[in-house]
Amino acid sequence: MTDSIYTPDVVIVGGGVAGLTVALNIAPRKVCVITKNSLGVNTSSSWAQGGIAASISKEDSNENHINDTLNTAKGLADENVVKMVINESVNVVNDLENIGVKFDKNEDGSFNLGLEAAHSHRRILRSKGDSSGIEIMRGLIEEVKRSDHITVLENVSIDRIISEENQIYGVIGRFTDENIPNNHVVIQCPEVVLATGGLGGIFSNTTNPRTSFGEGIALAAQAGAILTDMEFIQFHPTGIDFGLDPTPLATEAIRGEGAYLVNQNDERFMLDQHPDKELAPRDLIAQNIFNQTEKGNSVFLDCRHMSKNFETRFPQVYNYCKKANLDPRNDLIPVIPVAHYHIGGVKTDLSGRSSVEGLWCCGEVASTGIHGANRLASNSLLESLVFGKIVASQINQKNMKIIDTPLTSKLIKTYKEKTKSKIRAKKYIWQLRSSMMRNLGIVRNQKSIIRGLFDVLKIERESKGLSAKLNDMILVSKFIILGAYKREESRGCHLRSDYKQQNDNMTYHIDQTLSQVESDIKEMIDQNNVNDDEKVSIN
Ligand code: SIN
Repeated sequence: MTDSIYTPDVVIVGGGVAGLTVALNIAPRKVCVITKNSLGVNTSSSWAQGGIAASISKEDSNENHINDTLNTAKGLADENVVKMVINESVNVVNDLENIGVKFDKNEDGSFNLGLEAAHSHRRILRSKGDSSGIEIMRGLIEEVKRSDHITVLENVSIDRIISEENQIYGVIGRFTDENIPNNHVVIQCPEVVLATGGLGGIFSNTTNPRTSFGEGIALAAQAGAILTDMEFIQFHPTGIDFGLDPTPLATEAIRGEGAYLVNQNDERFMLDQHPDKELAPRDLIAQNIFNQTEKGNSVFLDCRHMSKNFETRFPQVYNYCKKANLDPRNDLIPVIPVAHYHIGGVKTDLSGRSSVEGLWCCGEVASTGIHGANRLASNSLLESLVFGKIVASQINQKNMKIIDTPLTSKLIKTYKEKTKSKIRAKKYIWQLRSSMMRNLGIVRNQKSIIRGLFDVLKIERESKGLSAKLNDMILVSKFIILGAYKREESRGCHLRSDYKQQNDNMTYHIDQTLSQVESDIKEMIDQNNVNDDEKVSIN
């Protein structure tokens, strides 16, 4: 079969809230949106249970929301970005309502606002209780289908960004249907937007879809982009512990409505940990649950005292529990902390530009600086919507470059050779995920970080470049490991048991690039006199 070649003005890799917002706002430029699955299927956006934070109530203000975001971010947020995003929040909510997205309302027509951890006011706009992502994606997809300037290419996985001498030429990928032999897709255009989501799939316990394993970060790094804050991974305290992969989420909004966290002895262990008890900041709750499990305790979400209409207030959570033969109105829900959101990523400026000319990023793959060291719940859909519009408007203001030399078959051939085989490497992927969870999970220290590094290097050695997905996961894990190693402090969601305090001299970001990674790893090995027993934790 021959290659499929497309020549839009812009290509967007990723079809979640961020990608679709860029696509809708970029008209009249012609855009190609690439999705790994069918549009709207298995994206973190569709799975989002929380909603959009916006200071809409009379008692609230943008200043309150800005302060809550900055307090949560623990000194690492970029205040300009925080203000810019939050000051746009009401506008993006209006945009969504204008295309038909329905938010939950009270009888008097006002928004029925939810409360989540570390928000000083009720300000979470939700849809059907815990189904906000599904409803927002429904609205966006319907609008995309009405838009002539957008072509959606479904079931395509991107292998490389094509660039030479700081010039972007497009992307090259393939249809994910493994029965189609050698069917490459080439998209030739001067502007590439990455909106590929996060990397929770690097960890064995995660709320993220299987396709979220940091692929966008690997693509950007290979194109020469600067990454930043890779060590900041937010663990959600209440993944539902039914042994499923990915782990279903029990939204924080349930605790916002009064659910308790208890151990098997019915002790509400958060009572003496923070004045906000079960609504303390996410990192503190995750750490406390971790401490409980270290003591051999099990942890549960207790909703029994708030059983009225539970099934309609939180239909997704109710249905997950029902499938496991458990009724949250009468039974405790077992919970564990799970990798949920990556704060770091491709470093972008106020316009969503990466350090590579023609490469833009938005959504979870980008590190815009809004979240600092810890993300305030429900700020991320907001960030995606605001930056989606900004990226579209910035690209629209550019004089569109014409690629006068079409991609030659020689260049395409070179990239095909560089792109990797489709062979699955389940054993190695699983080893990597469990090592990253064990060694770079909720609480890290120098020893565990080094163990994580040696596991990754061993997997790299043994797997010998077997699979594209595994290669990306190995590369992204190295960036996380190096960031975690260099950040010798505890700040926000980066917790180190050997550096328990925040270090006031470390209010900088740790930037990384592909060209540096191997020498940094060598330095890390040289600095640590590791004996052979300590090198291997995989079994
Ligand atoms: C949740 O519903 O608890 C998640 C919200 C978020 O992560 O922003």
